[in-house]
Amino acid sequence: MVNIKDVAERADVSTTTVSHVINQTRYVSDELTNRVKKAMEELDYRPNTLASGLRSGKTKTIGLIIPDISNQFFAEVSRKIEDNGFDHGYSVILCNSDDDRNKEKNYIDVLVAKQVDGIIFISAGEESKNLSKALEFDLPIVVVDRDIRNVNADIVLVDNKSGGLNATQYLIELGHNRIGCIAGPSPVTPSAMRVEGFKQALQEAKIPLDSSLIIPGDYRFSSGEQVMHSLLMNPSPPTAVFASNDMMAMGAFKAIHENGLKIPEDISVIGFDNIPLSQATYPTLTTISQPIQEMAKLVVNLLVERMRFQDQRVKLLEEEPDFRRVVLQTELIIRNSCREI
Ligand code: RIB
Repeated sequence: MVNIKDVAERADVSTTTVSHVINQTRYVSDELTNRVKKAMEELDYRPNTLASGLRSGKTKTIGLIIPDISNQFFAEVSRKIEDNGFDHGYSVILCNSDDDRNKEKNYIDVLVAKQVDGIIFISAGEESKNLSKALEFDLPIVVVDRDIRNVNADIVLVDNKSGGLNATQYLIELGHNRIGCIAGPSPVTPSAMRVEGFKQALQEAKIPLDSSLIIPGDYRFSSGEQVMHSLLMNPSPPTAVFASNDMMAMGAFKAIHENGLKIPEDISVIGFDNIPLSQATYPTLTTISQPIQEMAKLVVNLLVERMRFQDQRVKLLEEEPDFRRVVLQTELIIRNSCREI
């Protein structure tokens, strides 16, 4: 079993230098750093991060909890967070809660046990009680995408209400006044705010609200398909539909085609997220874009800064900033799934 001494001999440096390169606990020149990294590669050395973590109190790992890895939105967010975490010298442990709060709680316990240095958290619900174990251990947390009230954490969201408002205003400007809404799961804040925006746009345009045209899905493809079938069975079907995410919009596409109708000739569809797949549909999906890259970069930066203050020496020299609540803006992406009537 290759150990740190073998690496030191191979690189012709001290074991202390090897430890500083691995744990980034002190400056080491590029020349020595490269010699150590070359020796580690040649010897296929895997540092025992838990042991080093016990010494330095840091494992250089971040826990990331997301609700549904099969949804490209979360896959994209995870990939960008992993990229940015790696750039800061952190490994990211990805946990998929499957929208299951018990699974979410178990994962948080696992991440605490593995001594991650911080957690990035996209909730399966909207309450913070599952975070209590992590907060109890004073673990830095950044909450993303789904709002959680009364939690000691930095929070990064998008302005979901204005996104829903912009999507619906766009359809109204195209002449639609019979507009359906495929809502997301109600306990999750983004969905509730997008529907608020939808309703506000109708109200501002003096279009009467027909609650039979607002039907909740669960953010998954199949629920978009089922809800769209229901909307098409309405005695007065909509001429346009706002789906609270792209996965459900694509499910709606399937139902519309199964009913022998065409997009946008017979019915216009607009989504939310701007996942890569939204450019692969036929016709391509008009949608509301979430600033995933900007969100991921900000989230990692906030967490890295918060983790710095876990070091007592930093706390002595600097005043830790208050928790921040940042709301990013969305953008309307016009493609080919909507038309003027
Ligand atoms: O597509 C999944 C949805 O859940 C996204 O819109 C994102 O905002 C998350 O809340």
